Amino acid sequence: MTQAPPSIAPASGKLAILLPGLGAVSTTFIAGIEAILQGLGRPIGSLTQMGRVRLGKRTEMKVPLIKEFVPLASLDDLVFGSWDCVPDNAYEAALKAGVLEPTLIEKLRSKLEAIQPWTAAFDQKFVQKLHGTHCKRGTRRALAEQIGNDIDAFLKKTGASRAVMIWCGSTEVFTQSGPHHASLAALEKALDHDEQAIAPSILYAYAALTRGIPYANGAPNLTVDIPAMQELANQTHAPIAGKDFKTGQTLMKTILAPGLRARHLGIRGWYSTNILGNRDGEVLDDPQSFKTKEVSKLSVLGTILQPELNPELYSDLYHKVCINYYPPRGDNKEGWDNIDIFGWLGYAMQIKIDFLCRDSILAAPIVLDLALFLDLAKRAGLKGIQEWLSFYLKSPMVKEGLYPEHNLFHQEMKLMNTLRWMMGETQITHLGIDYYQA
Ligand SMILES: NC(=O)c1ccc[n+]([C@@H]2O[C@H](COP(=O)([O-])OP(=O)(O)OC[C@H]3O[C@@H](n4cnc5c(N)ncnc54)[C@H](O)[C@@H]3O)[C@@H](O)[C@H]2O)c1
Repeated sequence: MTQAPPSIAPASGKLAILLPGLGAVSTTFIAGIEAILQGLGRPIGSLTQMGRVRLGKRTEMKVPLIKEFVPLASLDDLVFGSWDCVPDNAYEAALKAGVLEPTLIEKLRSKLEAIQPWTAAFDQKFVQKLHGTHCKRGTRRALAEQIGNDIDAFLKKTGASRAVMIWCGSTEVFTQSGPHHASLAALEKALDHDEQAIAPSILYAYAALTRGIPYANGAPNLTVDIPAMQELANQTHAPIAGKDFKTGQTLMKTILAPGLRARHLGIRGWYSTNILGNRDGEVLDDPQSFKTKEVSKLSVLGTILQPELNPELYSDLYHKVCINYYPPRGDNKEGWDNIDIFGWLGYAMQIKIDFLCRDSILAAPIVLDLALFLDLAKRAGLKGIQEWLSFYLKSPMVKEGLYPEHNLFHQEMKLMNTLRWMMGETQITHLGIDYYQA
């Protein structure tokens, strides 16, 4: 039985968007919002700004804009706060990131210069390629408290009525869920004992979730994908989502693989390699950080293709993902895919993709949509993992016992049906038999 639609509080007042990490993605996102507000660009790639949702029967032609259908915060109500272990303000960081044209950044200079990052909770053990110079000091517990104080002071200063936190910091080294992640009590104890195995990203999420602030994880780090944080999110009624923004090559993979699977074409091998030269690429040049990313990138094909159900087509699939740091490319990544497929009677074919993509241009609208939808979820009284936001994520978090849905089209349907459900509209099944079998 479907639950009754929730009642949704209005989006009144300002919404603070809190961003640990003020690098390429964050600055492209913030500068993008300012540019859009000044009429210097369009929010392309953002469902919340440009997307529509179909309602009712196909013959009714009711397809409102999502932002007119559900009550979302408006762009001119957003205020931005950030932390970074590098002291550059958003103007300097945007210039260094090299994603947007310097002439555009110059037009937004005063707005961007006003965003000065707070000192970071940083530990080089977790991001070995970075040397943080703009950092907080103290035990793990003290660091979490200092982050919390930054949040409280920012909300007071801006008068924001609500906040959302989106992790846009570097990918941390690979860690697995351990005993101090197993329950909230264990995590609290680990914080009290200054347990060095607690990653900095967890401290930001802890500070947000204890305040009931929704949190999304744009990187593949564990962070909120542990029982302790899910317990905390449920306790404080905070919606959470993660992990890892679905951009570039993985976006392509989750568009293409469902199509091949739908037509029952076999796949023998999928070789993916990338060159990129931004700071993210440099961080991922460290094998420990790459391992975190690799796990996230490799996971998508298994659940889309389901080799256990289709052994003849997919059980021998060889899947390889490489990322190569190549500074001349900056943020303009090039991703190659070679896909060895086979069809009728086992005859072999090949697909080659050469995606000249701009990573942060693809990530910025995801940050916006996650922030606005998580704020909506909070006002609708939803808490814990928001599976309907899997659409935006490479490695979607799911409730224990469920497998994640990676197919972009299933994810889109889930998102649209969740919006319909929230507003008391009929779900769309795409059966449509009544149109043509009277
Ligand atoms: N660009 C994309 O399309 C994309 C896609 C998926 C995921 N991501 C992930 O999003 C994150 C941001 O990507 P980016 O391209 O902006 O990287 P970036 O290197 O430009 O920015 C990350 C920033 O985080 C800062 N940082 C590192 N540790 C920190 C800490 N503990 N506290 C505060 N700041 C910290 C770094 O100094 C840096 O300025 C990365 O984890 C990346 O893997 C990016």
